[in-house]
Amino acid sequence: MPKTLIEPFRIKSVEPIRMTTRPEREELLAAAKLNVFQLRAEDVLLDWLTDSGTGAMSTRQWAAIMLGDESYAGARSFYRLEAVVRDLTGYAHFVPTHQGRAAERILFGTVCKPGHVVPSNCHFDTTRALLEWNGAEPRDLVVREGLEPATVHPFKGNIDLDRVEDLLRREGERVPFGMITVTNNTGGGQPVSMENLRGYANLLHRHGKPLLLDACRFAENAMFVKMREPGYADVPVKQIAREMFGLADGCTMSAKKDGMVNIGGFLALKSDEWLEGVRNMLILTEGFPTYGGLAGRDLEAMAVGLEEVLDEQYLRYRLRTAEYLGEKLDEAGVGFVRPTGGHAVYIDARTVLPDMPVERYPAWALTNALYLEGGIRGVEIGSVMFGRRREDGEETFHAMELVRLAFPRRMYTQSHFDYAAEVIADVKKNARDVRGVRIVKQSRTLRHFTCECAWA
Ligand code: F0G
Repeated sequence: MPKTLIEPFRIKSVEPIRMTTRPEREELLAAAKLNVFQLRAEDVLLDWLTDSGTGAMSTRQWAAIMLGDESYAGARSFYRLEAVVRDLTGYAHFVPTHQGRAAERILFGTVCKPGHVVPSNCHFDTTRALLEWNGAEPRDLVVREGLEPATVHPFKGNIDLDRVEDLLRREGERVPFGMITVTNNTGGGQPVSMENLRGYANLLHRHGKPLLLDACRFAENAMFVKMREPGYADVPVKQIAREMFGLADGCTMSAKKDGMVNIGGFLALKSDEWLEGVRNMLILTEGFPTYGGLAGRDLEAMAVGLEEVLDEQYLRYRLRTAEYLGEKLDEAGVGFVRPTGGHAVYIDARTVLPDMPVERYPAWALTNALYLEGGIRGVEIGSVMFGRRREDGEETFHAMELVRLAFPRRMYTQSHFDYAAEVIADVKKNARDVRGVRIVKQSRTLRHFTCECAWA
């Protein structure tokens, strides 16, 4: 049996990517003020900024696009998607939204009140920001292993049930519901086990609280359960996904990830308790409940994507992709969050630039170096993203200096990953040439998107 796990698709339509020279990239990065968010995508060779909305659609999805029913109310495309979501989640109620954060905004805007506390393993940035915007406090309760890059554990996305119990006992009246992100993006794309999900659901339900999944990468999580959790090896991944949804009482979903589409999302709920408020908010800010900020064709593509993502051959290849790059990084002596997650590899910049002081932003410096060396765009998850400059000029720094390389779905082949591994190894070899930066201009919030830097 050949051991190589191949891409389980062939390529029908191609989009050229542009090789640039190093002097060109130096100029382009300087013009972008040393901030890769400010680069034009066409000046990037491997764009691994995010896996969100950036993947390739299948022939079946493109064909479905032509079947889109663009009726304002009651479109056929809505009912098709509704049937798929119901079959997958088992939830009775469903509204489409234009992307994940719209589902979050509508849910939180309907349910959350000032003073509320919402636990999760780790809330994603937009989730966190939207909870705060509604006066609620997001509380991250991931297990200890989830915060240690080098510690190997099969389910580093698990939530710490003791801390959840403590929260419910002490401040239960402040908790409107619990959330959990599958897989845990902020913590390295790490999965949550079924056992942990069940324990969390039971705990919440005993206190009369519903559980909502942040389900963006539910299929990758289900595949990890199949591969790692005792008792699931022979269970079809769709059945595992159904079991995950079945333990919860609803979900928010960015279909730009495991929905396999370039735009779309939804909010689905088991009970009708919040439905009226949700529908009203949806109509106010997204659109009529049968299209929710999307075109009919988008609903069609999502319906197909939600089925295709549960193909086990695809998922096996998908998880193997990150693992493969991880193996190459190991050979090069480059550290990363272990084990590799579902959608991305998170390089530990301190293992490449051990001598660079945090004031020079090593993960940002490494992000820039990957672009300069090989035209690769990743994203810094370190002190530029999570640090702050306080009013008094004092800086705070983040505990980890990571560079996330997130992989668009069905887009890049093995040779792209071989190339990336070579680029990263070369950067590590010439680490002494990697220059740190200082921030010369920044906004008060989410400064990483727009800050201007200079070489330190
Ligand atoms: N929840 C998680 C876990 C996410 O990763 C994201 C988006 C969202 C919610 C919001 O969804 O973008 O459709 O509004 N993550 C992207 C990323 C942006 O790069 O990780 P959205």
